[in-house]
Amino acid sequence: MQFDFLVSNMENIYIETYGCQMNFADSEVIAAILTKAGYGVCESVEDADFILINTCAIRDNAEQRVRHRVRELKALQSRRHNLRVGVLGCMAERLQSRLMAEEENVSFVCGPDAYRRLPEMLAQVRRGQKTAEVDLSTTETYADIEPVRLAGNGISAYISIMRGCQNYCAYCVVPYTRGRERSRDPETIVHEARTLFEQGYREVTLLGQNVNSYSSSCDFPELIRQVAEIDSQLRVRFATSHPKDLSDKLLEVMSAHDNICRCIHLPVQSGSNRMLKLMNRKYTVEWYLDRVGTIRRYMPDCSITTDVIAGFSTETHDDHEATLELFRKVRYDYAYMFKYSLREGTYAWKHLADDIPEEEKTRRLNEIISLQGEIALENNKKEVGKEYEVLVEGESHRSKEQLFGRNSQNKVLVFDRGDAVPGTYRTVRVKNVTAATLIGTLVQ
Ligand code: 5AD
Ligand code: SF4
Repeated sequence: MQFDFLVSNMENIYIETYGCQMNFADSEVIAAILTKAGYGVCESVEDADFILINTCAIRDNAEQRVRHRVRELKALQSRRHNLRVGVLGCMAERLQSRLMAEEENVSFVCGPDAYRRLPEMLAQVRRGQKTAEVDLSTTETYADIEPVRLAGNGISAYISIMRGCQNYCAYCVVPYTRGRERSRDPETIVHEARTLFEQGYREVTLLGQNVNSYSSSCDFPELIRQVAEIDSQLRVRFATSHPKDLSDKLLEVMSAHDNICRCIHLPVQSGSNRMLKLMNRKYTVEWYLDRVGTIRRYMPDCSITTDVIAGFSTETHDDHEATLELFRKVRYDYAYMFKYSLREGTYAWKHLADDIPEEEKTRRLNEIISLQGEIALENNKKEVGKEYEVLVEGESHRSKEQLFGRNSQNKVLVFDRGDAVPGTYRTVRVKNVTAATLIGTLVQ
């Protein structure tokens, strides 16, 4: 067997990550695979021999940002002829070798299930060949790879528990870029979480496109119970849940464990039943509101956050009004709000018109943003006077004299540092709020 892909003289890779939390978790797997093959991971493009761009394809603007970045790197490459650029992740999977034809300074393209091949690919590139590996897998979970934690705070870490998605929401490209759903063994997940805790980490986020359909030798409620029972000082979060299968069993396990955080991300996408059907979301507004009610019955203090899309195919003013109405009913603590972006290959691309004018999409989106801003501020005003246990994460961006951390509900609290230390739990009393932040003081 030949190991010509192992590097003898230390060469450096630089990884740049775009998109969702899953991509950030994947970048840590990529770093692990390449450090094992002898590469160093550097923190500046200036020191890199290979720049790996881990990309997102969910909306067109995400892809345009990456293309812009790739083109920007040409200047650096013209000064440093041995510097190679590769595109990884969802955009690589979607565009495959087309990307190398369109962006001539890209030397390699690697899809989300092909990261184990990167050492060979980089060796090939070093020999002057361009290469693309984009096969999707039905089994790859990278379960045996211990991620190299990149630029983390040593306090919170992501653990990817499953990959892929087969819900086929009409607008969404993910089932095509990340392939079929598959779950990682619970033993490897619990082991990874325990190791992180022993290393001093105090928070893990279990990641998957739809964690509720986690299915291995146990289901998701059982998995999260096992992770939560590693230690009561380890906080456990998870993302993302699909409303169609948010089970009471999960809510029971959550309410029985204080260290499973009181925060559920429950993407609604639209408040109109007609839109939800067209989107193939497999639930109704009534079902969704029932889930929200049930969450609040089990855990009255649980925060709820969402994703929403403005201007999907044929969306009328009434459909849009129904979304605003749903926002008023649920009163989300936070929302990720998007304009619909038509994605090649999706059901909507094949069968549904992208017929809402851009200005109208923008208008609707802005209306949702401004309503959500008001709701978040009103929600936060009710926090004044409350005390929360906060996991201290680090220095606040505004002042060295202040620290920040999060409460169980995932709200950011900023407070005068006093004798608080990052990586520990402290009680903070809320004094003042904005729509995004709670400002408080340490309770001794
Ligand atoms: N256009 C706009 N937003 C989208 N999302 C997914 N696909 C699209 C698209 N084509 C949003 C959904 C999803 C989030 C991750 O991105 O709200 O929950
Ligand atoms: Fe996309 Fe729907 Fe899967 Fe989420 S559940 S990744 S929106 S197809």
